[in-house]
Amino acid sequence: MTNSSNPPVAVVTGAARGIGLATTQLLLEDGWHVAMIDRDEPELMKVSNGLTGARPFVCDVSVPEDVDQMARQVLAWSGRIDALVNNAGVADFGPMADTDFKRWRTVMETNLDGVFLCSQALIPALKQTHGAIVNIASISGLRASTLRVAYGTSKAAVIHLTKQQAAELGEHNVRVNCVAPGPVRTKLAIAVHSPEIIAAYHDAIPLNRYGAEHEIAQAIVFLASPKASYITGQVLAADGGFESTGVGLPALRTKLDK
Ligand SMILES: NC(=O)c1ccc[n+]([C@@H]2O[C@H](COP(=O)([O-])OP(=O)(O)OC[C@H]3O[C@@H](n4cnc5c(N)ncnc54)[C@H](O)[C@@H]3O)[C@@H](O)[C@H]2O)c1
Repeated sequence: MTNSSNPPVAVVTGAARGIGLATTQLLLEDGWHVAMIDRDEPELMKVSNGLTGARPFVCDVSVPEDVDQMARQVLAWSGRIDALVNNAGVADFGPMADTDFKRWRTVMETNLDGVFLCSQALIPALKQTHGAIVNIASISGLRASTLRVAYGTSKAAVIHLTKQQAAELGEHNVRVNCVAPGPVRTKLAIAVHSPEIIAAYHDAIPLNRYGAEHEIAQAIVFLASPKASYITGQVLAADGGFESTGVGLPALRTKLDK
């Protein structure tokens, strides 16, 4: 898709593993160059080693000084930025009564502040290329559930931030969209999905399975690419049908099997 002498450049946060790493790999396959951002330095250095066209930048997206420095370093390396994928995220599931302010802030500072900070730092460069932002929310931001007072609220805020950004950046020809993944068996999910939660997800998902990292990456790369040139302000749920489904799915599925 790209001119190899002048490849487009994407910045992917949370790129050391999971959905961010799968997105990096897919962008590289499509001819992009990728600035891989993560705060887990050992893992980032290990996985970026040998990825042609990728360059690691250690940065905590929740720290304004880190983000400003990262923006300067990426631009010094690439000279341009065509897409920003705000993917870095943390999950912490717990009842409201146990979610003290420290736990709340830990979730908000990465999941929401990080999206805000990275976008603010890179929007000037994106305006120059008429680029795109893809923010990663979650089905937990589309539908409320127990245990997600901080996580679900942070992701709902990312969905609205996406629309704010799209509204204001449209006249600069910068598109902003959001992918809301369903459950994917990454390190983040394994830490918070109990066997009961896994069983409940299967009951609530028409495709009746977890997603894979590369299936979420396909949606992200599409929205980042010029193939989505007339799409902005949208939330694409890559979730096996979870968000569109109402009550009674397991019972109906059983009936249809007969
Ligand atoms: N896995 C799922 O089931 C699922 C579902 C819905 C949404 N999501 C969202 O997808 C995104 C990626 O999740 P994943 O499952 O691949 O998680 P993961 O834990 O496998 O990877 C997240 C990466 O982000 C990095 N990171 C976290 N906080 C950071 C910070 N402050 N600064 C820089 N890097 C930071 C981590 O070091 C890690 O490499 C997250 O935003 C997550 O909320 C995941």
